[in-house]
Amino acid sequence: MRNAGRRILLAALIPTFLGVAILVGSSALQGQVKPAAEPAPTVLPRGFVGAETCKTCHTEPFEQFSATTMGKLFLKHPRNAKEALGCESCHGPGQAHVESGGTAFDGLITFAKQDPTPVEQRNGVCLQCHERAARLHWQGSPHELRDLACTNCHRVMTNISERSQLAKPTEIETCGQCHLERRAQLMRSSHMPLREGKMTCTSCHDPHGTVTDKLLKGNSVNDNCYTCHAEKRGPFLWEHPPVMESCSNCHDPHGSNHEKLLKVFKPRLCQQCHVETRHPTTPQTPGSRFVFNRSCTNCHNRVHGSNHPSGQLLNR
Ligand code: HEC
Ligand code: HEC
Ligand code: HEC
Ligand code: HEC
Ligand code: HEC
Ligand code: HEC
Ligand code: HEC
Ligand code: HEC
Ligand code: HEC
Ligand code: HEC
Repeated sequence: MRNAGRRILLAALIPTFLGVAILVGSSALQGQVKPAAEPAPTVLPRGFVGAETCKTCHTEPFEQFSATTMGKLFLKHPRNAKEALGCESCHGPGQAHVESGGTAFDGLITFAKQDPTPVEQRNGVCLQCHERAARLHWQGSPHELRDLACTNCHRVMTNISERSQLAKPTEIETCGQCHLERRAQLMRSSHMPLREGKMTCTSCHDPHGTVTDKLLKGNSVNDNCYTCHAEKRGPFLWEHPPVMESCSNCHDPHGSNHEKLLKVFKPRLCQQCHVETRHPTTPQTPGSRFVFNRSCTNCHNRVHGSNHPSGQLLNR
């Protein structure tokens, strides 16, 4: 894929590159003798060359990475042998790549689009340090099963988002790369304050995997909603079964063109379950009190449940 002209240029430059690498390598060795605030000297395993060597040819990526949370640790204050590998803690041993002047990639994981390293192995690189906490349920999660790479959502070489090294400036844009419809729904007239920046996809979902269906953080849809809408939890003297079952029977949390995030307009919403032969929905003859007020909730205004002794009709 790399064009021939460039290859010739590279070949011509190899000796220079190597020269610089060796020079810097030896000055780094001298540096280690100094007692200053340098990190403790580390003996690199076979095949590894150390971050200073990578820097000779990749100065800009080096500088950018140095400004990230991981870069600050790995390059300046490594706390263990893995972190001390610096660039190579992720990219793998770079000696062959360096000796070829950057033309060979044997053993190097580049994470680039044309990188033949299988996704599972690439993710394994990140998981060797990040398997605990939020990634406990990664294996077998919908995203893992669909072969998503950590790097579909994360850009680690440089800070693009304010936090969490996301691939796009915001989380909604990060998820929106693939979930176009969910992203579009946020623009509908009724929506929770996501596009206003007060909530985000991970207010409800954990993209790394959960024990619940649909990557929900709570144990169920309702538990998820109760974290912010506690008053809907009850207990109620008179419950409305579809509410106890799932808020998503009536609401679409991602946005709707009907008021209050309702999936269907009223009274059709209620009529999905309350058959038309019964009171409210019997032919809406002019003059009937039920016609005048087509919105069932004008009378049955405790649709989420009632605590009134005579509220069994969910009307008080
Ligand atoms: C935490 C893992 C990790 C570390 C450590 C790391 N890289 Fe990367 N590198 C990646 C990933 C992943 C990509 C693919 C693009 C991305 O996600 O940022 C990448 C991409 C690159 C690229 C391709 C161009 C670019 O900037 O996207 C170069 C060159 C590179 N890294 C060099 C380095 C150098 C030099 C160091 C050490 C200073 C280093 N990397 C440290 C993970 C890492
Ligand atoms: C002698 C110079 C030299 C050294 C030293 C060097 N590289 Fe490279 N590297 C190159 C060249 C040249 C390329 C090809 C650039 C290209 O195709 O854009 C390259 C490509 C890469 C890429 C792939 C970039 C892409 O977009 O596909 C990564 C990742 C990378 N190097 C990481 C490293 C790491 C990590 C080290 C240290 C272990 C290192 N390099 C040391 C010269 C070097
Ligand atoms: C050598 C261990 C190691 C490897 C490999 C590694 N990380 Fe990290 N990562 C860390 C440490 C340490 C931190 C600092 C925060 C912490 O203590 O959790 C961190 C932080 C992060 C953060 C949070 C950044 C922030 O600003 O909050 C993200 C996201 C992340 N890593 C993603 C990745 C991805 C993606 C990969 C694979 C390409 C990867 N890491 C590889 C050790 C590692
Ligand atoms: C589908 C998108 C997506 C994928 C795939 C993904 N992440 Fe994340 N990750 C996120 C988002 C969004 C956040 C921010 C969450 C937050 O701030 O609560 C995050 C946060 C993190 C953090 C920092 C906060 C924390 O939980 O410690 C780390 C570390 C991390 N991810 C590592 C990984 C690793 C490792 C992989 C691959 C196994 C991965 N992520 C795959 C979207 C993703
Ligand atoms: C207020 C909570 C909440 C927020 C915020 C939220 N979701 Fe959801 N999401 C849910 C619930 C609940 C479900 C499951 C609905 C069901 O089972 O009927 C779901 C389902 C999904 C599904 C699966 C849809 C399907 O039909 O299987 C995707 C994809 C999704 N959400 C993506 C997103 C994205 C992307 C964002 C951010 C733009 C987001 N969600 C924000 C609560 C939320
Ligand atoms: C690189 C593409 C990609 C990105 C980015 C992405 N997803 Fe997904 N997501 C998928 C795929 C593929 C599926 C599986 C869809 C399917 O099976 O129908 C999925 C499924 C889901 C589901 C449904 C899970 C289930 O049990 O059915 C939710 C919820 C979800 N993603 C949320 C998110 C959130 C939140 C983000 C951002 C943090 C995100 N996704 C980013 C590709 C992506
Ligand atoms: C992270 C907190 C949070 C979670 C979790 C949450 N909500 Fe909300 N919800 C809000 C906020 C904030 C508002 C806006 C309230 C306001 O404007 O007074 C809101 C508003 C609403 C509204 C009214 C929308 C309108 O147009 O007025 C409905 C309906 C709603 N949420 C349903 C749900 C459902 C169903 C769930 C679970 C799938 C859920 N919410 C989970 C925070 C949350
Ligand atoms: C049977 C259908 C139905 C179910 C199920 C349902 N709701 Fe509602 N919800 C409504 C209707 C209808 C409205 C509009 C009320 C009105 O017009 O007065 C509404 C309004 C809301 C509002 C905004 C107004 C208010 O009362 O605060 C929130 C928040 C809300 N619902 C949350 C929830 C939560 C959380 C759940 C699950 C525990 C849930 N809903 C289950 C029908 C339902
Ligand atoms: C997903 C189905 C479903 C939807 C949608 C639904 N309901 Fe119900 N509703 C039920 C069930 C089931 C009962 C319990 C019936 C029973 O106990 O005989 C019930 C009970 C009631 C009752 C109490 C009457 C009684 O006989 O106990 C009222 C009033 C009511 N619903 C009004 C509404 C209104 C108003 C709406 C629209 C906002 C609505 N329902 C939407 C399923 C639904
Ligand atoms: C003007 C007030 C009013 C409106 C509007 C109204 N209802 Fe009623 N509803 C009542 C009263 C009062 C009762 C008690 C039984 C009766 O008088 O027929 C009742 C009873 C019910 C019952 C329980 C009895 C039965 O027949 O099962 C259900 C379910 C019900 N309504 C659903 C609805 C639905 C769905 C709508 C909207 C299409 C609606 N109601 C609109 C006042 C109203």
